[in-house]
Amino acid sequence: MYSEQNIVLVGPMGVGKTTIGKALAAHLNREFLDTDRVVEERTGADIPWIFDVEGEIGFRRREEAVCKELMADSGRVIATGGGIVLNEANRAEIRRDSIVIFLSATVDQLVERTAKDTRRPLLQNSNPRAVIEKVLEERLPLYQGLADIEISTESSSPKHLIQRIIKAIGDIYEPFNS
Ligand code: S3P
Repeated sequence: MYSEQNIVLVGPMGVGKTTIGKALAAHLNREFLDTDRVVEERTGADIPWIFDVEGEIGFRRREEAVCKELMADSGRVIATGGGIVLNEANRAEIRRDSIVIFLSATVDQLVERTAKDTRRPLLQNSNPRAVIEKVLEERLPLYQGLADIEISTESSSPKHLIQRIIKAIGDIYEPFNS
């Protein structure tokens, strides 16, 4: 049933999935989960450590297990890591029974929002803008292919974004707010 479906936020690093997800969950009185945080809890180590010791492959393996685990339950708001869509098994899990929201932003915004970041291993190099451009090019069709709703985060406060998301969900699933 629509109201029991997970609301899953997908989109690139720095777009605000966690911030928006937490606020959306609070607004809807739902539990909030973040796949990156659950990966860290299950591993007992943070993401930079996982990339360091196990490489991106190790991280993706852990991310897939967490994706499967979280999608098996319902009624939550779930923020995902930006690369979760790369894996077809993850896409199938997410698609099965969720309302998927793609949060989008411009390259400039993503560069700005991640400028001081030290916790995203993929951006710890001399040209993070080039990485953001490359991953966006590769992942944009995957985000768009998966999403029920696309919301641009440009020029919207978190509060306004929540209202837009609720309205967009209500437009598709009419009794959502009742
Ligand atoms: C990644 C995004 C990160 C995290 C990991 C890899 C990616 O999550 O999963 O560093 O491949 O885009 P956020 O999107 O929350 O930054």
